[in-house]
Amino acid sequence: MTGGATAIPEVQALVRVLATGRDVAELGAAYGETAALLAETARSVVTVELDPGRVAVARERLRGIVNVELLEGDAYEQLRGRGPFGLVFADGGRPYDWEAVLALTEPGGLIVKDDLSPGRPVEGDVVREFLLRDRRLAAAEILATPELAVIVASRLR
Ligand SMILES: C[S@@+](CC[C@H](N)C(=O)[O-])C[C@H]1O[C@@H](n2cnc3c(N)ncnc32)[C@H](O)[C@@H]1O
Repeated sequence: MTGGATAIPEVQALVRVLATGRDVAELGAAYGETAALLAETARSVVTVELDPGRVAVARERLRGIVNVELLEGDAYEQLRGRGPFGLVFADGGRPYDWEAVLALTEPGGLIVKDDLSPGRPVEGDVVREFLLRDRRLAAAEILATPELAVIVASRLR
């Protein structure tokens, strides 16, 4: 039903751990599956989805979960002026506006970028160049599976 739109279980487990005790923003709620898991460990979750059909499914799934807020629309518009957040799960909203994502992240907070092909060079890859090279961040690229990499970055200042 979700047609590959939901983070894989390995990534869900990772962000669920990293969300512990944090205020979380998720860019791209899709059907709300990962938001529901994040809510189990996070202090609060704000999740944003552009697609109205997906929002409707997510709204049903997230109904009654008191620490989740589901917003409909463009994540950058909806989250402008919100936060800062202890974890930003950047899982929708291409092309990513990394300065906006950074602005949403509190110092010491984390950014997670899902769904990367492993083994690609940093140079020429706008996602990797920002997250792995920007001096305001400390970051690591890790394999969630042999075929899928994730970058976890912390905001230093
Ligand atoms: C990979 S899916 C998100 C999966 C979700 N994080 C999960 O694991 O359950 C990406 C989603 O981002 C949404 N999206 C794309 N651009 C967006 C934007 N600018 N603002 C909010 N959502 C967006 C898409 O409609 C899609 O549902």
